[in-house]
Amino acid sequence: MRPKTIEWTGKKMRIVDQTRLPERLVYLDCSTPQQVWRAIRRLEVRGAPAIGIAAAMGIVLGARRSRAVRYKNFMKELRGIAQYLGSARPTAVNLFWALKRMMGVAEREKIDDIPLLKERLEREALKILEEDNIVCSAIGQHGAPLLKSGSTVLTHCNAGGLATAEYGTALSVVFAAHEQGKKIHVFVDETRPLLQGARLTAWELMNQGIPATLICDNMAATVMAEGRVSIVVTGADRIAANGDTANKIGTYGLARLAAAHRIPFYIAAPLSTVDLEISSGKEIPIEQRDPDEVRKIGDRQIAPRGVDVYNPAFDVTPAQFIKGIITEAGIIRPPYRRNIAKAFGKKRIQLRKTGSAAGKPKN
Ligand code: MRU
Repeated sequence: MRPKTIEWTGKKMRIVDQTRLPERLVYLDCSTPQQVWRAIRRLEVRGAPAIGIAAAMGIVLGARRSRAVRYKNFMKELRGIAQYLGSARPTAVNLFWALKRMMGVAEREKIDDIPLLKERLEREALKILEEDNIVCSAIGQHGAPLLKSGSTVLTHCNAGGLATAEYGTALSVVFAAHEQGKKIHVFVDETRPLLQGARLTAWELMNQGIPATLICDNMAATVMAEGRVSIVVTGADRIAANGDTANKIGTYGLARLAAAHRIPFYIAAPLSTVDLEISSGKEIPIEQRDPDEVRKIGDRQIAPRGVDVYNPAFDVTPAQFIKGIITEAGIIRPPYRRNIAKAFGKKRIQLRKTGSAAGKPKN
């Protein structure tokens, strides 16, 4: 069973409430941009691509509530909603990518036919959702050859179906290899403070019948030293033009450990996670979260109340530690600045050929 992380019901956005997993699979409906903002901020919907899709639907919900009859007034409202949704979380660039794409649709039309504009926006949000499935399947197909039967993969946080519309990025690679009949074993970092690995990745892998072993984050070095990891694959929240990659806090440490143990370290992400406007990882804004996420596990206090806490949600892995970036356009290898730009060129050609923003996955 692979639940749909985000759905459009025609009136509302329906998401899996990821804060309730693994105990309960509960769906949550959002019918206003405020509810979407809150769902993103509280990590009820999370993972870079999923946040982007949710934001696109937030625009549709906001547009629908507008009573504007003139294009100028409608756009003023829409810009306000986009800015508001963009303030939900700062690091995953997919959020801003999706908002820009939605605003682009409204900006191109310049018509007073507001109902038609609303319809076009809804269509675009659905297109973003559908493309995510195509892109994630392509990532899986491109990445699967990196795994042989008997490979053991170590992953961090959750870059599975729950972090996208349905298939995932890093886990799409694992799912594709598994579907090809290869025997794959996954070591899952629990991923403190919010335990996305333990709660979500372990749950997804077990649902798919893929053997998985949960480890605390501080066990990764030992598992590597014991020779039990063939490859590390994680997702990404933002990739700079030079390949430096922001992902869940702890990813940088894993990349350094992988280098020390001569284990290949890969990132799996759609090209919508690449921010060409950012030249290096130094410019990536890192979200700082509530100190109580570290002082507590769930509702349980595990540290003295009021103890000083540092809680960055993401870190940046320098490109030099990344063996390749698995995208829908294939695996991008160093030198990244040149090859990332090339991958965007390839995508533009695919776009012209297929009339869509993503190429069809190779089977
Ligand atoms: O804070 P989160 O849970 O949204 O962080 C998610 C990650 O870091 C994922 O690895 C990343 O978004 C890639 S998801 C395909």
